[in-house]
Amino acid sequence: MDDMLKIVGGRPLSGEIKAQGSKNAALPVMAASLLLKDAELELDNVPDLKDISTMADLLSVLGAEVRINNHKISIKVGRDMSSETPAALVQKMRASSLVLGPLLARQGRAVMPLPGGCSIGSRPIDLHLKGLVKMGANIDLLHGAVHATTKGLKGCRIYLDFPSVGATENLLMAAVLAKGDTVLENAAREPEIVNLVDCLRSMGADIEGEGTGVLRIKGKSDLTDASVRIIPDRIAACTYLLAGVITDGHVTIKDVIPQHFDSLLAKLEEASVDVESREGTVTVFPSRKKLKAISMKTLPYPGFPTDVQPQLMSVLCLGQGASVIKESIFESRFLHASELKKMGADIELQGNTAIINGVPKLNCADVVATDLRAGAALVLAGLATEGETIIHSMGHVDRGYECMESALSSLGANVQRLGRRA
Ligand code: EPZ
Repeated sequence: MDDMLKIVGGRPLSGEIKAQGSKNAALPVMAASLLLKDAELELDNVPDLKDISTMADLLSVLGAEVRINNHKISIKVGRDMSSETPAALVQKMRASSLVLGPLLARQGRAVMPLPGGCSIGSRPIDLHLKGLVKMGANIDLLHGAVHATTKGLKGCRIYLDFPSVGATENLLMAAVLAKGDTVLENAAREPEIVNLVDCLRSMGADIEGEGTGVLRIKGKSDLTDASVRIIPDRIAACTYLLAGVITDGHVTIKDVIPQHFDSLLAKLEEASVDVESREGTVTVFPSRKKLKAISMKTLPYPGFPTDVQPQLMSVLCLGQGASVIKESIFESRFLHASELKKMGADIELQGNTAIINGVPKLNCADVVATDLRAGAALVLAGLATEGETIIHSMGHVDRGYECMESALSSLGANVQRLGRRA
């Protein structure tokens, strides 16, 4: 994964970029195609990312015919599909676990290697499995893989111990073809789930309550051809806005849904950042000289998203005073802190709490991306720092950001992709 990015930072970014399609909306929608039989699902505004091609590979291995053409994807699903997911693809991308519900609902069987943990946490799928068992699945864990079978899933009432995004998506997709009605309580409310419901409804599913925390699904026996437009990526949008903030720049991001990141906009206002949000567009103005310390806790949507926590930490390294970040979603999502400290950041970790004492400037260094959003946070720090910062393992960042260096260059950043170092 040692693709490197060289950043010569210290200049304000300025300009306007368009938001990419949402990775975390496109992946479950692609998995939902497995609910079809002899039918086709068409997606538009899909981001061009490694994770998308990994999901496309997985669907092809299962027997679907996948065609990707410039942000559009068509997925044709026949009658006979495999129900065994290859370990290599599941290990490569945890979101592969989103095929479990659809495969089980459509084929009555699914074999899937347990997705590994990653640098941000163990990331079990116990809530996914508990819900499927309640719907009538038999689940065996053999040799590190989930072997799930069912004679037919039945609708029921499921209360999720935690509003897990993935568990909500898997159980929602399974319920669409279950016999009878399902109520999913304490369900996740993320916009990506609302997008998935749009897709399932266009396939003919009967679903109510998206975005409210209680999903009501009336099972159907068959679904039809459908098409869906993927929503803008709110996490990528927040990342580029914070690139503007950290470089004291003037950056506009368009084709977004500002309501999807109200929590960030509120925190930026609290930090005295000048922000303007109009129909589909958000702009940040030069404000770093008055960037105030704030406290923030990550929460399930509509709370502050954990996927923007690392990027906000980078910005707060240059704030005035002591900021406090509590990470409540993942058990170890502060690995970027040690990399930021290599750049001179003053950060103290106490369990799931980080205390960030603002410093006047950061120093350039060689730093390593440990996961997708940690890598993005280090890019932001490099952009704000005079001199040459090298970010290693940029492969992590490429999983979620479409051509990050061209987006940043269009905002005036001096960035260059380097090959592998000898
Ligand atoms: C989705 O992951 C996102 N990924 C993550 O984005 C995001 O950080 C996360 O939701 C939280 O918003 C995709 O949508 C592809 P969860 P997911 O199930 O579904 C625990 C990125 O950078 N949990 O809501 O895996 C889990 O360990 C990625 O784009 C269980 O304990 O997240 C975690 O602590 C990173 N048991 C918490 O819940 C379960 O069965 C949230 O997990 C499921 C989850």
